[in-house]
Amino acid sequence: MTLAQESVMAWLRDAGLEPRELQQKAIDAGLLEGTNMMISSPTGSGKTLIGEMAALRAVSNGQKAIFMVPLRSLALQVGKTIKERYASRGLNVEISTSDFETSGSTLESCDVLVATYERTDSLLRHKAAWLSDIGTVVVDEIQNISDSMRGGRLEGTLMRLRKAFSDVQFVILSATVGQPNILADWLDCKLVQSNHRPVPLVTRVLKTSEPEKTVRDLVMNSIQKSGQVVVFNRTRREAVAAAQRLGPHVQRQLRHSEKESLANEVSSLENWSASLPRDLVSLIHSGLAYHHAGLDFESRHLVERLFKRGILKAISATTTLASGMNLPARTVVLTSIASPADYKEILSANEIHQMLGRAGRPGYDKEGFGIIITRSEGERQTALDAYFHRIQDPENDEHERMPRFNPVRSSLSTNLAEQVLVAIDFLGGAAVSDLENTFFAQSYLVHNHVRNPKSPVRPLVLSELTAQAAIEKHAMSETVHAAMQGVLASTEIREESEQTLGGLIQPRSGGGYTCRFSIRPQKSGVMEGPMCSCGRPISDEGILCPHLVALGITASKLAQSKADFIIPLALGETSPVATLSKLGLIEAGSDNRLKLTALGSVVCKLYLRIPTVRELLALLPTVETSQEMLDLLGHIIMLESGRNLGESASRVAAELILTSDTCETISARNDIDVGDVRLVLEMLDWVLISISTIAEISNLKTVGNGIHRMLNELHSNRYEGEKNVNKQ
Ligand SMILES: Nc1ncnc2c1ncn2[C@@H]1O[C@H](COP(=O)(O)OP(=O)(O)OP(=O)(O)O)[C@@H](O)[C@H]1O
Ligand SMILES: [Mg+2]
Repeated sequence: MTLAQESVMAWLRDAGLEPRELQQKAIDAGLLEGTNMMISSPTGSGKTLIGEMAALRAVSNGQKAIFMVPLRSLALQVGKTIKERYASRGLNVEISTSDFETSGSTLESCDVLVATYERTDSLLRHKAAWLSDIGTVVVDEIQNISDSMRGGRLEGTLMRLRKAFSDVQFVILSATVGQPNILADWLDCKLVQSNHRPVPLVTRVLKTSEPEKTVRDLVMNSIQKSGQVVVFNRTRREAVAAAQRLGPHVQRQLRHSEKESLANEVSSLENWSASLPRDLVSLIHSGLAYHHAGLDFESRHLVERLFKRGILKAISATTTLASGMNLPARTVVLTSIASPADYKEILSANEIHQMLGRAGRPGYDKEGFGIIITRSEGERQTALDAYFHRIQDPENDEHERMPRFNPVRSSLSTNLAEQVLVAIDFLGGAAVSDLENTFFAQSYLVHNHVRNPKSPVRPLVLSELTAQAAIEKHAMSETVHAAMQGVLASTEIREESEQTLGGLIQPRSGGGYTCRFSIRPQKSGVMEGPMCSCGRPISDEGILCPHLVALGITASKLAQSKADFIIPLALGETSPVATLSKLGLIEAGSDNRLKLTALGSVVCKLYLRIPTVRELLALLPTVETSQEMLDLLGHIIMLESGRNLGESASRVAAELILTSDTCETISARNDIDVGDVRLVLEMLDWVLISISTIAEISNLKTVGNGIHRMLNELHSNRYEGEKNVNKQ
């Protein structure tokens, strides 16, 4: 055994821990020698401890470790466990989750940092000195790399961490990745896999015409057998309604002693925080609670703690409780498979199994039950097909379902312009060809494409997008090749205007198709895009039908300038480099290398999204009155938080800045959840500083002064007071 191995094993022994089978497998595969590793194993199988051991390895080598997690609550859970386990060894653990805080100065002395993905990204963008000693990076719940909002930033962060610290050990963890070898290969990780779940999880897909009654029966059944339950709902409103329906039933099950201990808890709560909504307090009396992002962080944490102590029998939650959390639920009920964002879409298999995986956690139960409620046979079959492998043996139908997971795709393209900006800053300037051929060639996006037989010729185009480059982003190489040779079809351009390019395509194999690229707006306001009489102009993977490829290639030869304008737009393609340079965020130096402008550098460090910057630059010069300023502020907060607060956003911002009313008062007055008021408050300082910095750089002195006044008011009215409230 090496010295590092010996000391990590001694630390574990002192903490009373013995590695389990999966953990031993990771050790045998070289975890404690610094081998990069991906762990793909079921929920509740002990992946955290593997990340923890890798972190301890770095520390025992005199280095630091970073443990990246998706959620604040998970950061707290992981960070607190590590802290308590190794406090006697003098291990210094920091939990850092404030995504809007920029300085990393308090981190200097810490050995292990548990941080959200975004916080890590921000530290890296600020080139925080702390990072230089890093020996291990643990990425928990890596499947989030495909999240459309957050995935691109996570991917960019991992690429930069890897380039900056070439000998750093990567340990990536997930329970819900289909084809994990693709991700493992990307980060040069050894894949350690297991299907063993220490606590068996029985999953069922039920069909019912009375979903409320079925949920109630399931919940009561579990509670009567001393099991705790988490019910997942699609929306906040449904989570609250379900809790209220269940309240009286759960309360009836409580023993006298349980009622007394609940009463004690609630009376101590009354003084503890003014921010617990009344209806939640009375629900807690009945032995259950709701849990969603509309509650503030402290309230959510309180609900989790009471549930862990067994004082609460059930939680009715939205998906905010999902990833990675360890909770003592024996039973998990999913009341709907519809996606929170769009009820016509269903949740992905990965999301479903994350939620089901909260049931039956080691140390709490011997067996877990995960139940999915559906409302028709059709919906039941949809769920079975999407979330489980088909079972050969009908006898086993209800018991031995093997979960099915979606492969994890890159989301980098949704956020490419920002990642190009950050990459140029990171590299200290770069030519487009370097960015394309070296830096982004190592992205997960490109890695994915190379692997996928259905992938287009060029997955990534950073600079000027010609018609041909846009087609190449949406067609496989043979099709493009055949179209270039003219062997695919005979193509006749019949329609050519400022907004459309259309034609008749006659494939060699026979038949005729009319198709066009169009940027004409329809009545609904949506642009027409690519169309073809074959009925399938573009596949789910974004691949064009061969007729459109033939048309596009011909048009790019015969009507080049028009095609170069229309075709990329019709395909929704923009050039990241052109976008950044139009916004004044980058410029080309004399050597043709791109570098950041002063504005670009500020945007990169402020952690702003490119669409936000575009809105700010367009709207700031038009702002005159303070009401217009507040409207802009509300707009930016919505853009950056991704939460639609309607007109309340600017009203809430105004009341937070101009009054010293509490968040609860503001929440009640505007009829919006207190968690949302707190979210606005958390973002305010950062958004105001961002606007004032950009106003200053753009020489908009009056606006800048107005924002400064708001910042001063915000500080004098609030922060001192708020801090006191939080401390209580
Ligand atoms: N070696 C061990 N000895 C004792 N308990 C352990 C050991 N390893 C893990 N556990 C316990 O098992 C439980 C589940 O572990 P953990 O949270 O790491 O699962 P996970 O694999 O990360 O699951 P998920 O995919 O849901 O995040 C925890 O309560 C943890 O303390
Ligand atoms: Mg975990």
